[in-house]
Amino acid sequence: MALLEIHDVTKHFGEFAAVNSVNIAIEAGEFFTLLGPSGCGKTTLLRMIAGFDQPDSGQILLDGVDIVSIPPEKRPIHTVFQSYALFPHLTVESNIAFPLKMSGKTPDEIRSRVKESLDNVRLTSFANRFPHELSGGQKQRVAFARGLINRPRLLLLDEPLGALDAKLREEMQIELINLQQEVGVTFIFVTHAQNEALALSHRIAVMNQGGIEQIDDPSKIYNFPRNRFVASFIGKINMLDVQVLEATSPQLRLSVMGLGEVAAPWRQGIKTGDKGVIAIRPEQVQILHYSENLGVADHFTGKVHDYLYVGDVTTYIVELCNGLLIEALLPNSTPGRAKLFEIGDSVVVTWQYEASTYLNG
Ligand SMILES: Nc1ncnc2c1ncn2[C@@H]1O[C@H](COP(=O)(O)OP(=O)(O)OP(=O)(O)O)[C@@H](O)[C@H]1O
Ligand SMILES: [Mg+2]
Repeated sequence: MALLEIHDVTKHFGEFAAVNSVNIAIEAGEFFTLLGPSGCGKTTLLRMIAGFDQPDSGQILLDGVDIVSIPPEKRPIHTVFQSYALFPHLTVESNIAFPLKMSGKTPDEIRSRVKESLDNVRLTSFANRFPHELSGGQKQRVAFARGLINRPRLLLLDEPLGALDAKLREEMQIELINLQQEVGVTFIFVTHAQNEALALSHRIAVMNQGGIEQIDDPSKIYNFPRNRFVASFIGKINMLDVQVLEATSPQLRLSVMGLGEVAAPWRQGIKTGDKGVIAIRPEQVQILHYSENLGVADHFTGKVHDYLYVGDVTTYIVELCNGLLIEALLPNSTPGRAKLFEIGDSVVVTWQYEASTYLNG
């Protein structure tokens, strides 16, 4: 049995369905992420798990028991918010100890648990400081420690790193992974940053307009998006309009409007005549000089339209012979060589067919 099961949960605000027929099962020990654009219903779903809001319909089961009618403070679930929500007049130590005091633990137990917790988040030497004497990252670590001190079954984290600058955010991501491994508590993490979701999670639920588009591990979400929304929301991706010419395992033969034929991996349920797109990540696209065009199966000719050099990689934008633009990301791994192609160069664009995905619709 999963630790948390969400069955067909719906929540309206007036006529508007903020969360619409959501089904998720989360296993004990998972780092599970809700990822989606602003307004897609992530916080609303989290608030129902925490008990701050009630679903209109559906069930939320923890260890098989429906918790919908249990008030938030009686659920073995804790929430960490982006705004930290620390008590300004309490020291780091007292902030962390607060939930233990509320639940009536003995002073000895409180002392030893707080000591261990301070150590977990590397704040032992900050125990007597007040929140206004801490950096953003330190405040967030106090909030994590306080969220975990009562050993909840589930820790809900609503954009906890949203207020931090990019570098600190990256450091805190690594700390968060380590902390989750150390304490073994199940995390449900909310973010609208796709890189953060890919870096942290065991599994990701991609949400859109109150519903779930795909639940999978990060590499499946990235490499095998189930539909156009997931493909375009996670990272950069090229999409070319195509029609299915032939649909026999193991390959689909597709016709790219105005260019020619191309193959993609076969999948169940796709029929000759279907229309859709072929999706291909920029780092899977290869560019060859026109004269290098030796025996690559699927390829298109074009001209380098533009490029963007960003140090470790260069993004080239190639205009194909039908006028479409396609992006290719090339590593600059050869020292001293920042540019492989110039604007206007005649090139051939190609990719391994296994690296592409056909998406209907
Ligand atoms: N109390 C409320 N009353 C009316 N509408 C609400 C309420 N809370 C949320 N909504 C609406 O429900 C939708 C989902 O909101 P929610 O806060 O869950 O989004 P979110 O995915 O967390 O977005 P963000 O990434 O911006 O935090 C939004 O359109 C929002 O305006
Ligand atoms: Mg939110």
